[in-house]
Amino acid sequence: MPHVTTASLMQMKQQGEKIAVLTSYDASFTIRLEEAGVEVILVGDTLGMVIQGQESTLPVGVDEMVYHTRCVARARRNALLITDMPFMSYSSPGQALATAGRLMKEGGTQMVKLEGGAIQLETVRQLTGNGIPVCAHLGLLPQSVHRLGGYRVQGRDEASAHIMREDAMALEVAGAQMLVLECIPAALAGEISRSLSIPVIGIGAGPDCDGQVLVLYDMLGITSGSLPRFTHNFLEHACSVTAAIAAYVKAVKAVSFPAEEHCYK
Ligand code: KIV
Repeated sequence: MPHVTTASLMQMKQQGEKIAVLTSYDASFTIRLEEAGVEVILVGDTLGMVIQGQESTLPVGVDEMVYHTRCVARARRNALLITDMPFMSYSSPGQALATAGRLMKEGGTQMVKLEGGAIQLETVRQLTGNGIPVCAHLGLLPQSVHRLGGYRVQGRDEASAHIMREDAMALEVAGAQMLVLECIPAALAGEISRSLSIPVIGIGAGPDCDGQVLVLYDMLGITSGSLPRFTHNFLEHACSVTAAIAAYVKAVKAVSFPAEEHCYK
């Protein structure tokens, strides 16, 4: 796989080639992801849940994100590496710059991800103005789980769908170079993806996004407890971890994943 960059991802979007994204938190899985052709690796703050056994992503700290980013960065060769900025580590543009600076300089990440719409515009401008690529995240915002009243589908009524469309456009104008849409109706995600020029990556957002992301441990069937309908166990019918990840990449490229049963209306 050639080096993946923000420019090559834009080109994939323009050419209609779907982008395969997965989370990773360590070196060994990162090697498997690259072997299987995953183009973008996300050190997600879901590590709080799947690695640390926390109930949500909220307790995760910057030091922990730096540590796991460093583990992944050591093994990464060609995929683009993104790291989540954890809860309360970007509540002002100044704090966001300090956090993102650590994730890039100490962790070796290439892009940072933050959750939220209009409230993050100034932060996105500051980060991108300082040479830090940003991936935005709209829809279900796991760091706002308590404000949202649980992990629920977002954007189902016209008022919230309208705000999401406006936020997505404003984030692109502010300089975001990628957008994650989580747990929203497939039709709305398709509309937003078509309206933006940056790649839009969906999780529980239907097949019309420019790419898909899943939590690695969910798609390998490792995560215990009940899982959201948008995930799928790719290891169930595969003979190895690499084969399962390759099956995911193939399904994303062929647009056979997500299927109707993984989507919301
Ligand atoms: O933290 C994470 O793993 C994420 C993905 C679910 C998109 O943000």
